[in-house]
Amino acid sequence: MNDIKILAIESSCDETAAAVVVNGREALSNVISSQIDIHTLYGGVVPEIASRKHTERINRVVDKALKDAGVTLDEVDAVAVTYGPGLVGALLVGVSFAKGLAFAAGKPLIGVHHIEGHICANFLQFKELVPPFPCLIVSGGHTTLTRVKDYGEYEILGRSCDDSAGEAFDKVARAIGLGYPGGPKIDALSNEGDAEAIAFPRAKVDGSEFDFSFSGLKSAVLNYLNSCALKKEEVNTADVAASFQKAVVDVLVEHSMLALEKGGEKRFAIAGGVAANRHLRAAFEKACSERGVEFYCPPPVLCTDNAAMIGSAAYFEYIKGVRHGLDLNAMPALRLGERI
Ligand code: KG4
Ligand code: ZN
Repeated sequence: MNDIKILAIESSCDETAAAVVVNGREALSNVISSQIDIHTLYGGVVPEIASRKHTERINRVVDKALKDAGVTLDEVDAVAVTYGPGLVGALLVGVSFAKGLAFAAGKPLIGVHHIEGHICANFLQFKELVPPFPCLIVSGGHTTLTRVKDYGEYEILGRSCDDSAGEAFDKVARAIGLGYPGGPKIDALSNEGDAEAIAFPRAKVDGSEFDFSFSGLKSAVLNYLNSCALKKEEVNTADVAASFQKAVVDVLVEHSMLALEKGGEKRFAIAGGVAANRHLRAAFEKACSERGVEFYCPPPVLCTDNAAMIGSAAYFEYIKGVRHGLDLNAMPALRLGERI
């Protein structure tokens, strides 16, 4: 069979990205234009600004992805785009652009689920990895423990019933004055702190051993900061960062290992922006190696938002014959595994 080259576009949040991916496993290019500097000024992503910046940048980003790959639009087999979940205005920029491109070039259009993309980052990095395997997705919008039954087929084992892990990182970072984006800043600051200094809670969700809850942990950090302020005690922010981060990582590892033990699997993957966290990666590596489990974790650039992962997910849809029409719309609340 001929190689299948897919031009993929991602614009669900604050990264404008495009990539060319071959056979779902190899990125010929992976261009990411981040808006982090702009949103940092406001302490978080401003949806309207994100949409405008996507509009300004998408043309150049897609051009560069084709150029870096040494491929013309004529030579690609399909155009893929994230159509949900995400910020509706931001998604619409990518979806509209991809539709225009696919129509003008006479190429098939494939809409991709953003979280499926995160999972598929593992297929780019680990050519030998094939389903089934369990995977923990930890991003800014989602914390989901799933079994990847086959390409594009998922069984949800657990999810967060309130804040996602990434949201907790971002909110706690804001509370201790680190600003946006919180995850990488807590990751760095925690190196200077003692993870055992403050006993923050590890929440369990009644009736569901694989679900997560992080809002109580976030409140515990805020209460701790308030009580220090009332008592006029100095706060060691590095200790807060390290202790908070350990509480998140402990729960993620514990639930994931329980799922592994119950399922009897010997492989485990992680994905999503929070999977770039060094302490989380090290903790999973240790837990998996103690159990003789093969651990898969994409490099940080494939954990945070990018279009190569969307090109990988699109390939597995393409070979199943999935094609979207020009009526493809942005679906801000699309669920994992849902096909529209
Ligand atoms: O997957 P992602 O890039 O976008 C979404 O799909 O949401 O994830 C973004 C999230 C943010 O909450 C960010 O703070 C977090 O990932 N993040 C991290 C790290 N790098 C990014 N969290 C902890 N440690 C990191 N090194
Ligand atoms: Zn993402």
